[in-house]
Amino acid sequence: MDISRERLDEILLEHAYDAASLIAILQSVQEEAGYLPYPALLHIADQLRVPMARLHSLGTFYKAFSLEPTGKHTVCLCMGIACHIRGGQQVMEKLQRNLHVAVGGTTADRKFTLETVRCLGCCSLAPVMRVDEHIHGRMNQSRAVEILQDY
Ligand code: FES
Repeated sequence: MDISRERLDEILLEHAYDAASLIAILQSVQEEAGYLPYPALLHIADQLRVPMARLHSLGTFYKAFSLEPTGKHTVCLCMGIACHIRGGQQVMEKLQRNLHVAVGGTTADRKFTLETVRCLGCCSLAPVMRVDEHIHGRMNQSRAVEILQDY
């Protein structure tokens, strides 16, 4: 588990073991572990006496939660029309080859998770790549690789 049992109990105590605070509890676990580890969900379900199915549905419903380990950095390539026309697909293929990961996947060293989005809202900068909260415009294959080397 990527979060200790002791830390989990502290988080539960901070929320007075109140099932009404379930989302806040899951947010804390997500922040600390980087995802919602299955053993952590089992412990929370047991301690709060809530069905595991409820935790699973919350974990899959909210985009802020992940049931799988994610990378330290999220690389998001825009696959909207403007970015696609200007070479976004080629940038994506280069990153997939370079990082040895498919879209939605996380690198073996858990440094990067690769995602796509339909439009980042800055089409004049196409093709666009976002790394965490940083927007990088007018992307090409070699620039994308260079940028990720800085992380
Ligand atoms: S289509 Fe890529 S930013 Fe809009």
